[in-house]
Amino acid sequence: MALSEFLAELDELLAQGMAALESVDDKETFEAARVEFLGAKSGRLKQVQKGLGKVSKVDKPVAGKRFNEVKVQLEAALKQAAEALAGAKGPSFISGSASFVAFGDSDTLTQAGPFDPTVPGTHFQLGHLHPLTQTTEELKDIMGRLGFTVAEGPEVEDRWHNFEALNIPAEHPARDPLDNFYLAVAGKTAGKSVEDGAWLLRSQTSTVQIRVMEKVQPPVRVISVGRVYRPDTADATHYPMFHQIEGLLVDRHVTMADLKSVLRLFATSYFEDDVHIRFRPSFFPFTEPSVEVDMSWHGGWIEMGGAGMVDPNVLRAVGYDPEEVTGLAFGLGVERICARRHGVGDIREFFKNDVRFLHQF
Ligand code: PHE
Repeated sequence: MALSEFLAELDELLAQGMAALESVDDKETFEAARVEFLGAKSGRLKQVQKGLGKVSKVDKPVAGKRFNEVKVQLEAALKQAAEALAGAKGPSFISGSASFVAFGDSDTLTQAGPFDPTVPGTHFQLGHLHPLTQTTEELKDIMGRLGFTVAEGPEVEDRWHNFEALNIPAEHPARDPLDNFYLAVAGKTAGKSVEDGAWLLRSQTSTVQIRVMEKVQPPVRVISVGRVYRPDTADATHYPMFHQIEGLLVDRHVTMADLKSVLRLFATSYFEDDVHIRFRPSFFPFTEPSVEVDMSWHGGWIEMGGAGMVDPNVLRAVGYDPEEVTGLAFGLGVERICARRHGVGDIREFFKNDVRFLHQF
């Protein structure tokens, strides 16, 4: 085959192919043009390629070069036609539309453009710990450095651990059903008959103080972090369920100065630099003297919880000798600590589970 003949065939193929691809306006004309000119088995480009083998050896480099040029141009025109079609018919699957779902619907199938591997994929977002969990972990860590180990207790408590052992006698107003979540569990448990209200959702983590002291002898140095429950109306600083961090240190010669030192170290470790703490006289049945603990950090004073020196009656209830040992104890609200640190104005945010809020921590 003469070179000129081969080149003429190529020119004709190119002209007709380009014209056909440029006039593509729907799925059918696109497919027809693609099969006719670029079909893998019997497309016209393939046919013309056969002529290449018949061109004489000296002419082959020129013929091959021209063949490749035509091939590249036709393929580019095909791609362009596909893109134009995808754009005109709405988003293709490449841009994330759901056209793939509608298999069998010929109209939506036309939307699928060529696969583009360079489009970024869908990112999976890894979650992280809830801000309260982060705070809890950090507080445990800080207290761990001060030598406090972590103790745990049940959230469903009996009256002994929630009240009696904590020096809260039967007629004390703190036991009022309006201030506690008593459980209705009349019946028998482990052979013993149980009356309604024998158990309740613990109203404070001070229960864990008792559970620890019942088991171990002084010196004691523990913290406990966990949920507590009170029938409070939810507002910016209250919620019917919240978290407390409880600390207990019992040893010889423990004083109120130790209490303040521990709390100050705790506060400066968590908030850093210029945090201040202040004690206000208060009353708890299980501590004497008792104080409210306020903290101020970049702003006004916030009430963080209660503290005091363990009441001798409590030490006696667990079999310790108040003449031998003394103790300090504190119970602080984890939500308030976390909210203060992060500038959260309303603790209810912590429980809405709105990821737009949570992902900021
Ligand atoms: N348990 C008290 C409360 O719930 C806080 C507290 C703990 C007070 C330990 C003194 C000592 O408010």
